Amino acid sequence: MGEGIQFIGGGNMGAAIVAGLVRAGWEPGSITVVETSHDRRTALAALVPGVTVVDAPRACTSGVVAVKPGGALDACRALAGLGATRVLSIAAGIGAGALQDAAGPSCAVVRAMPNTPALVGEAVSAITGSVRCAPEDLDWAEAVLGAVGTVVRVPEQLMDAVTAVSGSGPAYVFLLAEALVAAGTEQGLDPRDADELVRQLLVGAARLLRDSPDGPEVLRARVTSPNGVTERAIAALEAAGFRDAVRSAVAAAVRRSEELGK
Ligand SMILES: NC(=O)c1ccc[n+]([C@@H]2O[C@H](COP(=O)([O-])OP(=O)(O)OC[C@H]3O[C@@H](n4cnc5c(N)ncnc54)[C@H](OP(=O)(O)O)[C@@H]3O)[C@@H](O)[C@H]2O)c1
Repeated sequence: MGEGIQFIGGGNMGAAIVAGLVRAGWEPGSITVVETSHDRRTALAALVPGVTVVDAPRACTSGVVAVKPGGALDACRALAGLGATRVLSIAAGIGAGALQDAAGPSCAVVRAMPNTPALVGEAVSAITGSVRCAPEDLDWAEAVLGAVGTVVRVPEQLMDAVTAVSGSGPAYVFLLAEALVAAGTEQGLDPRDADELVRQLLVGAARLLRDSPDGPEVLRARVTSPNGVTERAIAALEAAGFRDAVRSAVAAAVRRSEELGK
């Protein structure tokens, strides 16, 4: 049996995780990426030197399913058939039970929901194990996804909520960025200046939030002096139903994630 970890699918997410593993010190020679697209194989070879890039799966001891959800069960079955005793799937909406059934009894399957900040090593991923998973299987999956960010463990029934909050979440932040750039431009800023102000605003605020021991309410209160400029803006956002809009967005995403999982 071959050694090492084999990725099925070297697209955006697969490549991001592979690059993260190499950055984290995994031996490139122990990583194989199976990728059907010729152009993508060429790109991968340049992106992650030393990693084996092939067009068909080989024997392996562990695997990562990083194809679109429609191909996830087949990929899981293939990895288990080639000797993998552990498989991590990042395919959205495909349940751990279905993945485990596809893999069969010789292989433990962990399901995960990462997000696109994996591309810059700043993902947050949630993982959940199938009934066959031992604690070591979850530790292994956490080590793989830990190479591109932080990892939380949740019961499977909360994966739709995770998808709605952090899986789709980057899009909500980008929408806020779009709206802020547009509003700033409307107030007379040059669009390029508005773009730069907003990008760095989000980076700065995100780092402050991550690194501060205080919660978002405290950080918000600190920039909101009584009767000041920010207070007026927050009042306008609240009056326009900002919190309700976020609540219904997340609820709608949960419903859609549930539908897609059926
Ligand atoms: N992007 C996100 O925000 C996000 C977040 C969480 C989870 N996910 C999950 O991550 C998975 C991958 O997403 P992605 O954005 O990385 O997709 P992607 O860029 O389309 O990557 C998938 C890659 O796998 C290749 N492929 C398809 N079938 C294959 C097979 N049988 N064997 C080997 N390679 C194969 C595809 O080639 P072709 O293009 O030629 O088909 C493509 O290059 C999806 O299941 C998605 O649900 C994504």
